[in-house]
Amino acid sequence: MSIRISPSILNSDFANLSSELAKISNADWAHVDVMDNHFVPNLTLGMPVVESIARATDLPIDAHLMIEDPDRWAPAFVEAGAKSVTFHAEATAAPLRLARELRAMGARAGIGLKPATAIEPYLDILAEFDMILIMTVEPGFGGQKFIESMMAKVERTRAAVNKSGLDVWIQVDGGISRSTIERAASAGADTFVAGSAVFGAEDAAAEIESLRSLAQDHRH
Ligand code: DX5
Ligand code: ZN
Repeated sequence: MSIRISPSILNSDFANLSSELAKISNADWAHVDVMDNHFVPNLTLGMPVVESIARATDLPIDAHLMIEDPDRWAPAFVEAGAKSVTFHAEATAAPLRLARELRAMGARAGIGLKPATAIEPYLDILAEFDMILIMTVEPGFGGQKFIESMMAKVERTRAAVNKSGLDVWIQVDGGISRSTIERAASAGADTFVAGSAVFGAEDAAAEIESLRSLAQDHRH
């Protein structure tokens, strides 16, 4: 199982995105949080900024859409250059239709679950997705505390993915740092978003390497 680190640029300096992206060039993906002030109580950026970010980095863009009506808006993020688009289970009207549309456009399709959303309804349709995002905080803000009780959901998801034989990635997002990544890795996550841990570090690239090696040493 490969380990992937996807630093969130949410807490980076938005006036200097090119140089912020240059600090994380050793990452596997760049995680871009799109918030619409409806699905979550925060507002970030939209398609034009994703387009600029895609031009400014060689890293593939992992777009995390915390927006209402992703059925309408998510495909535009593929056009904007995102290689992976994750929409939320709580917001979509037709997750299968949307995932199939994103895949048909050539992107990876991810489905995100807030902490109080169960994985069980999705276990029979894992093949429709390239990634399951298990939120380890309530979405909306960086710098929140990791919710330990989500590890049971990660474990159940890992068991189902392994049983299916599918290569569905399991992403965790929220409060991932050197002190929590081992628990998330041993529970079965393989794709790690880290925002404040990476951009708050003195040396972002070194922090990414530390997180990667901790996850590798504790992988499921
Ligand atoms: C929260 C976002 C996260 C956030 C993570 O809603 O989805 O991607 O930036 O930030 P940290 O790692 O600081 O919890
Ligand atoms: Zn995110």
